[in-house]
Amino acid sequence: MVTSRSRIIVALDLPTAEAAVDLAAAVAEHVAGFKVGLGLLHGPGPAVVAALVGLGRPVFADAKLHDIPTQVEAAAEHLGRHGARWVTVHLSGGSAMVRAAVEGLSRGAGEAPSGILGVTVLTSLDGNSLGEAGIQQSPGRLVSKMTRLAANAGCEGVVTSPRELKVAADVAPDLLRVTPGIRRQPGGDDQTRTATAAEALSRGADLLVVGRPITGAADPVAAAAALAAETAELGVRRPIAGLESPA
Ligand code: C5P
Repeated sequence: MVTSRSRIIVALDLPTAEAAVDLAAAVAEHVAGFKVGLGLLHGPGPAVVAALVGLGRPVFADAKLHDIPTQVEAAAEHLGRHGARWVTVHLSGGSAMVRAAVEGLSRGAGEAPSGILGVTVLTSLDGNSLGEAGIQQSPGRLVSKMTRLAANAGCEGVVTSPRELKVAADVAPDLLRVTPGIRRQPGGDDQTRTATAAEALSRGADLLVVGRPITGAADPVAAAAALAAETAELGVRRPIAGLESPA
């Protein structure tokens, strides 16, 4: 049983709320928390957050909010009322928008621990795809700027690819570093800036977001258990409010 040591957030990118809750219940003892993304939030809807909270792990609503501040504030507040421990915003929405999200979530969550995580640069983007969108800076340079913005606007943490973890740690060491794009081998799907779980933890990740390597495995429970066991002793392991403290 590795519950208290796990730093894995399983990304429940599944077609229905029932499938997400079933998988979450099955892997709960091996993970630190559950993440719901745009598919579930826009399909079954945000009530799935509350259903997952009932399983006793913090829930990460990966809503990737990006709109004018009043809209983002309202959305974050609603997600907080549903019990979200974390909500994501795109930092490219600017500091006023990010501050509005921080206020909205804190109002919605009330006394429960909650925090906004700022998405720096999607892990599916590389220099070429950023160039296509008219952004001439490297992912590293962008992550540096976005992390500073996140710290100044009151985020609890940033979401960043394994490759830019050190940049984020240098710019704002106190922010939580949450890292998707975890793969045993690079390539094979839409993630481009990937690393193994061990690499990401050794570069300073606090939480690993892992989706298809668990949900797409022939035996998701065995995959979650193996990853949790492999990573149980690795990383910095700072205390995180709402997670069981490391044993
Ligand atoms: O299946 P996979 O392990 O690629 O899942 C990664 C998860 O992390 C997905 O749910 C995706 O939405 C999310 N994510 C990401 N890149 C970011 C932020 C979140 O891949 N920058």
